[in-house]
Amino acid sequence: MKAFLFLLPLLALAQPPAADHMHRRFDDAELWAKNFDDPARDKWQLPSQVITALQLKPTQTVADIGAGTGYFTVRLSPAVARVFAVDIEESMVNYTRHRAMKAGLKNVTGVVAKPDSANIPEPVDLILIVDTFHHIPAREAYFRALAGSLKKDGRLAIIDWLPGGPMGPPEAFRFSPEKIAAELAKVGWKKVGQHTFLPNQSFTLYQR
Ligand SMILES: C[S@@+](CC[C@H](N)C(=O)[O-])C[C@H]1O[C@@H](n2cnc3c(N)ncnc32)[C@H](O)[C@@H]1O
Repeated sequence: MKAFLFLLPLLALAQPPAADHMHRRFDDAELWAKNFDDPARDKWQLPSQVITALQLKPTQTVADIGAGTGYFTVRLSPAVARVFAVDIEESMVNYTRHRAMKAGLKNVTGVVAKPDSANIPEPVDLILIVDTFHHIPAREAYFRALAGSLKKDGRLAIIDWLPGGPMGPPEAFRFSPEKIAAELAKVGWKKVGQHTFLPNQSFTLYQR
């Protein structure tokens, strides 16, 4: 018995704590574009409905954090004054810059972020985070700091994979909207809205 008690702390050391985020590189934008920009995605991602639901004004600015290949950035661009396409992968940011340039979208600015800091150049009216929440490490500190990147009355919209659905990351990295709201509440974000029309993802709005 004594030997077992002695071993307990060692056993605890041997079990690494569950990861708080899903670490994965997205450093090949051309490759990921086949997936992120697959036209079949539109059927369940419903981008026009998402953008309508965001109720943006033409004078407003948006930061698309984890913009990837710009799926939402290029669709948001005609609706607002400026979109910051924020990503930690330089290849993604360059891909979106080039995509926007080719499409003549002059109000898109690419931003290379750090995993723990979004580097948004100026406060914005809306921060949109699609399928990226579960990739962000140390979220408490991240979302506490992110409040400083919003204008007064600015909003944060999070779209991420629902548990139990037919697509998405491993279940360990799919968070219910309640779990996301509880995490954000710890650092002062209040849930101010929720949409349920997306079949595979939760879609929730927050303010400070
Ligand atoms: C699954 S993709 C989603 C892309 C895009 N939002 C979409 O809906 O098509 C996740 C993206 O988030 C980026 N990413 C991961 N962690 C990030 C972080 N801490 N800050 C900003 N971007 C991040 C990845 O490089 C990748 O491009």
